[in-house]
Amino acid sequence: MTGESKNWILMATARAPTNIAVIKYWGKRDEALILPINDSISVTLDPDHLSATTTVAVSPSFEKDRMWLNGKEISLSGGRYQNCLRELRNRAGEYTDENKGIHIEKYDWNKLHVHIASYNNFPTAAGLASSAAGFACLVFSLAKLMNVKEDLSQLSTIARQGSGSACRSLYGGFVKWTMGNEMSGSDSIAVQLANETHWDDLVIIVAVVSSRQKETSSTSGMRGSVETSSLIQHRAKVVVPSRILQMEQAIRNKDFSSFARLTCADSNQFHAVCLDTSPPIVYMNDTSHRHDLFHNYRIISILERWNRHEGTPMVAYTFDAGPNAVIVAPNQKVAIDLLQRLLFYFPPARDNELSSYVLGDKQILHEFG
Ligand code: DP6
Repeated sequence: MTGESKNWILMATARAPTNIAVIKYWGKRDEALILPINDSISVTLDPDHLSATTTVAVSPSFEKDRMWLNGKEISLSGGRYQNCLRELRNRAGEYTDENKGIHIEKYDWNKLHVHIASYNNFPTAAGLASSAAGFACLVFSLAKLMNVKEDLSQLSTIARQGSGSACRSLYGGFVKWTMGNEMSGSDSIAVQLANETHWDDLVIIVAVVSSRQKETSSTSGMRGSVETSSLIQHRAKVVVPSRILQMEQAIRNKDFSSFARLTCADSNQFHAVCLDTSPPIVYMNDTSHRHDLFHNYRIISILERWNRHEGTPMVAYTFDAGPNAVIVAPNQKVAIDLLQRLLFYFPPARDNELSSYVLGDKQILHEFG
């Protein structure tokens, strides 16, 4: 490292959106490397909404690695942060800025400390997953800062070690996380199936049912399922491999009815695996702790009825490890018709204050009480 001055600082900023799995990742075969037991497929949301923005900085004057999340300092001591930082430092490249007289050798990155500031552009209180966008953004911005010369699929193996689902957020559009076979995890990577322009009529509605933090994290939930559920083995070995092929075909052909059928079935099977876990995990029932019972089942039954009703085009729904519904409509017209239907069942004037956020023309974040 040249320049004895400790006054310089280098910065990089990146933004990464969250992604919603339509064929779910649930279960690890290696906890430390975060290697899954099945492939998964997701759709990445529009980066203007539900994304993380991260600025990373390096300076010889920094005395330790530090991170702030939404303005509050958090600890970087966890293994997942440390694994990502180590992997990135191992791959860091040389950096020179002649104007500022800065020269950083590859090995200097092990001595330099980083500061990381990350913000989510959606209310944290909305209870929406943020680790996927957060780790994707952390890895991408640090890779830029450290001059890491690796392609996105290689970076996805690092983001994966922060949070499994994060590896899919490095790409837009439709993304597949291939589980891989190698013990090292080198082939457990994300690949883009189709970019964001491929099927851009789709509209995603995020129906916020509860803003409470989930009681069982995905990490511990899937550990419990791997240890105790017998259904998860059948799902990983038999059901998902065939669904992945069908989903890839549905996406390629923009076949919405197959896409919707597979998305709903996979979400429901994932929640069935959760119920098959001992002790059972009930993500969709979280709202039962509030005075308004079974929001989810109501949303599901409204949507199932909608799909059975002749003349209404199908919509897809999916629920992650929490009670919020993500609904995919084939186009804007159907999205608006459906939103009207939902507003009929969850009218704004009721005790449960309902507020809605229209997130551009592709996504609608809708809050139910
Ligand atoms: C239900 O990626 O949050 O959203 O790898 O332990 O960090 P870790 O888990 P995480 O799990 C996501 C589970 C899911 C399904 C999915 O996104 O595929």
